[in-house]
Amino acid sequence: MRIAMTGAGYVGLVSGACLADFGHEVVCIDHDPAKIAALEAGRMPIFEPGLDALVADNVRQGRLSFRTELREAVAQADAVFIAVGTPSRRGDGFADLSYVYEAAREIAGALSGYTVVVTKSTVPVGTGDEVERIIREANPAADFAVVSNPEFLREGAAIGDFKRPDRIVVGTEDARAEAVMREVYRPLYLNAAPILVTGRRTAELTKYAANAFLAAKITFINEMADLCEAVGADVQAVARGIGLDKRIGGKFLHAGPGYGGSCFPKDTLALAKTAQDAGTPLRLVETVVAVNDQRKRAMARKVVRACGGSVRGKTIALLGLTFKPDTDDMRDAPSLAITAGLQDAGASVRAYDPEGIEQARPLLPGVTFAEDIYSCAEGADALVIVTEWNAFRALDLDRLRTAMRGAVLVDLRNIYDPAIAAQHGFAYQGIGRGQGDMSSPTR
Ligand code: UDX
Repeated sequence: MRIAMTGAGYVGLVSGACLADFGHEVVCIDHDPAKIAALEAGRMPIFEPGLDALVADNVRQGRLSFRTELREAVAQADAVFIAVGTPSRRGDGFADLSYVYEAAREIAGALSGYTVVVTKSTVPVGTGDEVERIIREANPAADFAVVSNPEFLREGAAIGDFKRPDRIVVGTEDARAEAVMREVYRPLYLNAAPILVTGRRTAELTKYAANAFLAAKITFINEMADLCEAVGADVQAVARGIGLDKRIGGKFLHAGPGYGGSCFPKDTLALAKTAQDAGTPLRLVETVVAVNDQRKRAMARKVVRACGGSVRGKTIALLGLTFKPDTDDMRDAPSLAITAGLQDAGASVRAYDPEGIEQARPLLPGVTFAEDIYSCAEGADALVIVTEWNAFRALDLDRLRTAMRGAVLVDLRNIYDPAIAAQHGFAYQGIGRGQGDMSSPTR
C-alpha cells in the first residue's frame, strides 16, 4: 500500500516508520525543511529508543522517504494520515485544531482516486466530520472517506506499542474505507491484535476516554499515597493488593509526583472542555485535572518538609527532568513545577537527566546542569529522584552519601527500599510510604 503521513512529529514519525517496516511504501511529510533535512541525514528530531535504526533500515530498503511537499505523495496514496500536532489552545484548554484543518485543506487539493484520509492525531469528537466537510468543500469531486484511527503510543515504548498493540480502533461507517484500514494493519493480524471498527465519533471519544481513565487511575493511587503517609500505610502494598484484582489490574498504579507528558494533561483538559460544551460535565475528569496540577507543586513542599522545613540557601540536586524515562520530552514534566517551587522557597537547584538536558535548559532558568549523577549530588543538601530512569535504579548510595553535604533522599518514584537507604545513612522520603507498619513493597 502507498501511505502518506502528514506531520513528522512523534506520532507521525513512529507510525510512518512502523508502517514502512510492515512493508508499506510510506512518505512522511513535514513543512519544516530543517526537520526533513535532518531526517534525510539520519538524525531524529526526537529521542525514541530504536527509532533511528528503524528509520535508517526502512529508508535503505526504499520503503520510507521524507518530503516537505505533500502533493505528489497524497495523489499516489491509498491512505493519507493526518498526524500533526493538536496542542492545548491558550486560554480555554480546548484542543487547537488549526494544524489539522490546514492539513485537511492541503490534502483536499491533492487527492486523486479513492483515498482514505485518516486522523491519527488526538482530536475532539466531531473533528472527523469537520475534516470531511473541509475536504468536500475544497474539492467537491474528490472520492474519499475520513476515518478516525487514534494512536495509543507511549513515549519511550512507542515502537513496541505500535507493533504489538492491545487493540486497533478504526472509526468509519464506510465499507471501502474499512477494507483499506484492514489492509494497512494486516501485518498485525499475526499478533492477533483485535481491530475494533466503530462509528467515527465513537473512535474519537475512545481515545480520550482511555487517556482520562488512565490519568484517573494514576491520580487515584497518588491520593491514596497521601492517605498512606497520613495513616502509616504503604501505597506500594496497597497498589499490589488492589492490582491483583483482575477487574482493577496492576498497571498504572505507581504513585508518583503526578502525571505529565504530551497527552494526559492536554487530553484530560480537552475532554473536560468537550463535556462541558456538550452540557454533560465530567466531574471526575475535572477533579483529576485539578488534583494532578496541585500535586506537582505540592512535591516541592514535600522536599522542603524533608529538608526540615526550609531550603533557603540550600542546594537541591534533582535526578531526572523529563516527564518519564526514555524520552527527552519535557512537556508538563513534574520537574518544572518542582524546580519553580524550590527556587521560590530560596533553594539553588542543580539537575541531571540522561537525555533531557538540552530540552530542559531553556525551561528551567537559574538551574545548574550537571554532567553526571555524582557531580549533580556533589555538596548537595538533598537529592530528589524525580524521574525513574534505569540509570538511577542502582546508584552507589555510599558514594552519593559521601559526595553530598546533607543526607536527605526524596524518592518521588519509590525506586529505593527505605530500609536500605537508611542503612546507607540517608533520611529517606518516598511517596506513600507511611512509617506505621513494616510491610515491604516487594513481599
Ligand atoms: C500516554 C498513554 O499511555 C498512551 O496510550 C497515549 O497514546 C499517550 O499518552 P505517554 O504520555 O507517552 O503515553 O506516557 P505514559 O507511560 O502513559 O505516562 C504518562 C505519565 O503518567 C507520566 O508522567 C508517568 O510518569 C505517569 N505515570 C504513569 C505515573 O505516574 N504512574 C503510573 O503508574 C503510570
